[in-house]
Amino acid sequence: MIHLQGVTKRYGDTLAVDELTLDVAEGEVCVLIGPSGCGKTTTLRMINRLITPTSGRIMINDRDASELKAEELRRSLGYAIQSVGLFPHLDVAANISVVPRLLGWDKPRMRDRARELLELVGLDPEQYMTKYPSQLSGGEAQRIGVARALAADPPVLLMDEPFGAVDPLNRERLQGEFARIQRELHKTVVFVTHDIDEAIRLADRIAIMRDGRLVQYDTPEAILDSPVDHFVRDFVGSDRALKRLVRVPVSDVMDTDPPVARRAATAEEMLAEVKRTRFVYLVDEDGRLTGWLDRAQLKGGCSVEDALSDADPHQVAVAPDASLKEALSRMLGLGFRSIAVVESGGRLVGQVTLGSVEGAMTDSDDHQGAPVAPELDSGDLA
Ligand SMILES: Nc1ncnc2c1ncn2[C@@H]1O[C@H](COP(=O)(O)OP(=O)(O)OP(=O)(O)O)[C@@H](O)[C@H]1O
Ligand SMILES: [Mg+2]
Repeated sequence: MIHLQGVTKRYGDTLAVDELTLDVAEGEVCVLIGPSGCGKTTTLRMINRLITPTSGRIMINDRDASELKAEELRRSLGYAIQSVGLFPHLDVAANISVVPRLLGWDKPRMRDRARELLELVGLDPEQYMTKYPSQLSGGEAQRIGVARALAADPPVLLMDEPFGAVDPLNRERLQGEFARIQRELHKTVVFVTHDIDEAIRLADRIAIMRDGRLVQYDTPEAILDSPVDHFVRDFVGSDRALKRLVRVPVSDVMDTDPPVARRAATAEEMLAEVKRTRFVYLVDEDGRLTGWLDRAQLKGGCSVEDALSDADPHQVAVAPDASLKEALSRMLGLGFRSIAVVESGGRLVGQVTLGSVEGAMTDSDDHQGAPVAPELDSGDLA
């Protein structure tokens, strides 16, 4: 779909990009990553023809990009830029509609599309269509940036640190949304980031760049397993076994039949259940998590009512599409040996245990035929 052949960009003495050869297959997410100044943005801007390569060739869909007409290019590429870059004097709807307007869409079609995209990126159209960029949070602005890139439904998306300006929690959420949208839309994506966890989570393939050159281009699993050199090894970090967990969604390993008692059950019934299983989750009549009961807390004559712990699902549970790494760090943070999995409506759908996390780590080692990762010591779990 996208093919770069020996692409070089030179600024005076600076080789911003040096003989870059890279193929991105249709429907795949290629994440470009590397230290600041290694040529990521320059690469995207050359694909988008905002700048011209000094030498080399860029093909998009078997056509030479330099020969595409401006309108064809607009139809085929959506671009979310590093600094979001919304027009301050245009409202959200108009910002999203920039490319459709250039393509000559009529007003009702542009409005419908803007609404649809706001819903897709998780913002209420009623509330956001008429806001101005200065009235948005950083995370909201980045969502609008992504919506704008998607506006004309281009087959190719170029995204330059699209979630760079948000805090880690919102970033995690935006990544989850991006993964969901991508499962639905199957765009061909070139995605730039500084964040190796983000790369591992979202990429089909990761391209690691250094000083304008491509150092390694491979699947996240292969890069975690066999970094080609010290630079990649250092870049990926010392906790490679843990990073694999970023690739595994909770829903893949959760136990879908966790011990549960109805909150409305009598104290005797709850007691009988917790005696049997040591620990039960409590749910309301709609199956929503409301708390838990731990046998250890019943010691010393404490009544069932006193031993009930109330749960705020946002604090003590993870979503089915969260990563196992997220589940593990929540368990460690809370000091729990298992964590509940709840759907967005709060319904309990399963649990993840430390044992299943450990299983997933050993599985991937078996699967890769690699020795048990020596770098995983207790320090990684701290
Ligand atoms: N217009 C320009 N004129 C001169 N040098 C440039 C120009 N644009 C980029 N460079 C240089 O090219 C190199 C690559 O820049 P680029 O913006 O592609 O880096 P990057 O990987 O996107 O970095 P960051 O992660 O900081 O965004 C840098 O050394 C930069 O200084
Ligand atoms: Mg950049």
